[in-house]
Amino acid sequence: MPNKPQNKLELFFAKPTSLLILAVFALLILGLRYITLNLESPLLLTIGRFHPIILHFPLVLIMILLVVELLSLFKLITFEKSVVFYLLLLAILFTLISIFSGYFLFASGEYAGFLMDQHFNGAVITGCLGVLTLAFFLYYWTNERLYTVYFFALVSTNIAALYTGHQGGNLTHGQNYLTEYLPMLKKEILTDSKSDSSIYLYEDIIQPVLEAKCAGCHSTLRAKGDFSVSSFKDLLKKSESGKVPLKHYLPQESELFLRIMMPDSLSDHMPPAGKTSLDEKEIVLLKYWIEKGGNLKQSVLDSTSSDSTNTQITLLLNQLEPALKKYRFNVAKTALNDQKLEEELETLAIDMEVVIKRDDKAEGNMYTLSSTFPPAPFGSEKLAQLKPYLGVFTKVSLVSSQLDDADLYVIGQMKNLEELYLQKTKLKGSGLIHLSQLKSLKILNVSFTNVDDKALFDLIEFPALKQLYTYSTKTTKDVIIALQKYKPALKIHAEEGPYF
Ligand code: HEC
Repeated sequence: MPNKPQNKLELFFAKPTSLLILAVFALLILGLRYITLNLESPLLLTIGRFHPIILHFPLVLIMILLVVELLSLFKLITFEKSVVFYLLLLAILFTLISIFSGYFLFASGEYAGFLMDQHFNGAVITGCLGVLTLAFFLYYWTNERLYTVYFFALVSTNIAALYTGHQGGNLTHGQNYLTEYLPMLKKEILTDSKSDSSIYLYEDIIQPVLEAKCAGCHSTLRAKGDFSVSSFKDLLKKSESGKVPLKHYLPQESELFLRIMMPDSLSDHMPPAGKTSLDEKEIVLLKYWIEKGGNLKQSVLDSTSSDSTNTQITLLLNQLEPALKKYRFNVAKTALNDQKLEEELETLAIDMEVVIKRDDKAEGNMYTLSSTFPPAPFGSEKLAQLKPYLGVFTKVSLVSSQLDDADLYVIGQMKNLEELYLQKTKLKGSGLIHLSQLKSLKILNVSFTNVDDKALFDLIEFPALKQLYTYSTKTTKDVIIALQKYKPALKIHAEEGPYF
């Protein structure tokens, strides 16, 4: 049985020179950790995009190798060493390709932060361990006594690869991706199957529907029109217009029902255009509930109703059940995700020495970002740590920070940003154009910066800008007057302006 290196390739690797080559690769991988490239080559960026596919090859190969060694160890199947050699060579080759493609993806600037660091460190360790494993194998090929060293290197590579893969998964899917649904297993809400007589109209049917279709704008946290669906009591409180949302027994006098029934074309129709309306079955059940009294503990089947009504309601309920299940599920999931996000941001705020608070006035789970007092340093590196969360900020106030024009590129990705306060920063204005894609940016304050006339012209492109503060900048009066002409709705203040 050929158990020694035979052909050219095998003999080449068996020579000490191959070890030198392997060492060079290990150093290269280590080096990546310390070089930060700013990639602009479309080819390399494309290779980077393939990383999530390529990475599965080395993972599987490294695992197969472990299985092969375990099978041999327990004398179940014995493999020729040359087979192991080729598997190992392929595994290392794909590991290297994976690491380099991953590096290109990283260099695109799309990923940053703590998880990215962990994933990157893991990859470097996996790569180096992989190279070591191959080196040890080459020794062991001619010297059986080195088996243990090789075997442990292989086991370590497997552990490192699993760790790296897991961190990579967290990076793309968000932390706790694997365990996301586990806490919901405990929630009876998802598994209950009550009998008809114990189903309550409000808590089992109406509430989940309102929660799914109205709570985005009408909750305790964000009660548009001073109306909330968060609790039964809230439905009975007078709202902004002075009308009562729910009147017992009287659907036609209940504002919440009337709003739902309005023609879609009216702006008063609820939910507003673009959001999913209630479907017919939901409307029938809502009306039935209010007619029956609109009470908290109203059973689905009612002795005062005729048999045919009860049959009809049961039928409707059965038809609606899949939708209701989905609503309950989504409500539970949203609550869980909101809580998770809040926890992550709390930790981040402490780490980064900034203040992150919930923006109660905004729709959805939104936050404001501001400096501590007195302000801790805040520059590009801290901004990069926020990359996974850019979409959650509505108001940002980083007065006297070290941010400059290049950083506006990142801020330009805060797609829900409404207010931005950057007084006393290093801005000169060339980066302002990156903010022109922010559809909701209403207030911009660049007082006490070096923003100049040229930059002011870029503001013409800003779709929603309403207030601009330019006190003590390099702008001139003439240009401000010209800008005002282009954008009559924009208020340009020659004062320092607020921050928070
Ligand atoms: C996308 C946000 C949004 C959603 C979703 C939404 N609403 Fe509204 N709603 C508003 C806003 C904004 C107002 C205040 C302006 C107005 O009166 O039209 C309002 C006002 C109301 C009012 C009047 C409050 C008052 O007295 O002024 C009622 C009642 C109402 N909504 C019911 C509902 C119901 C029921 C649903 C779910 C089927 C719903 N809304 C879904 C945004 C929303």
